[in-house]
Amino acid sequence: MKVKSATFLTSNTDVAKCPQEPLPEYAFIGRSNVGKSSLINMLTHQKHLAKTSGRPGKTQLINHFLINGDWYLVDLPGYGYARASKKDKAAFQKLIERYFRERRQLLSAFVLVDVRHAPQPMDLTFMEWLTNAEIPFSIVFTKADKLKPGALERHTAEYLQAMEQAGWAETPPYFVTSSASGEGKEALLGYIGEINVAFRASQR
Ligand code: GTP
Ligand code: MG
Repeated sequence: MKVKSATFLTSNTDVAKCPQEPLPEYAFIGRSNVGKSSLINMLTHQKHLAKTSGRPGKTQLINHFLINGDWYLVDLPGYGYARASKKDKAAFQKLIERYFRERRQLLSAFVLVDVRHAPQPMDLTFMEWLTNAEIPFSIVFTKADKLKPGALERHTAEYLQAMEQAGWAETPPYFVTSSASGEGKEALLGYIGEINVAFRASQR
């Protein structure tokens, strides 16, 4: 699939105020600073569509982007921002939980993890939560440009093995990406395109 147009629509703290058109929706979630906003810019080939920052905690709201006038990409705040206050952490958790529970048109979530790191308890807990809430998701390994090809393969294999050892009978689909090099773009957009087609067929 080609991205021909990508526009920012709204930023919200309230799920009820998110765009109401019943278009297919995909959400990017993961630890603060993992590269969610950068990946949205890479996929849409726009440098500043989603706001990025070297400092964690940049994205604080639910941000909707309309792609090809046809489906939504959603940039969410990151979890695990160590310097956030207790109150902010609780508010964040509430916001995210409500978003995932109430956003009916969400077809799939993408849980972003830094390819250099072993599975973090916070990521696995969140994936478990998505599974229990019956929300389909994939893993998106980010910052692939930071590793040499051999190490890249080893890290992704070890990550999935660690998930199996932690009791996951089935590991989710996964993508290896780099917002710096553009790696993974076709695979990720192709995957979204397939889900869109299946969704539209089911609506007929
Ligand atoms: P929050 O909004 O704070 O949760 O962060 P985020 O997950 O949206 O991360 P963001 O896209 O703002 O990127 C965080 C930092 O990582 C920035 O300095 C980016 O330039 C850098 N970064 C993101 N993706 C990549 C990548 O693929 N490769 C490299 N080398 N750096 C990246
Ligand atoms: Mg962000």
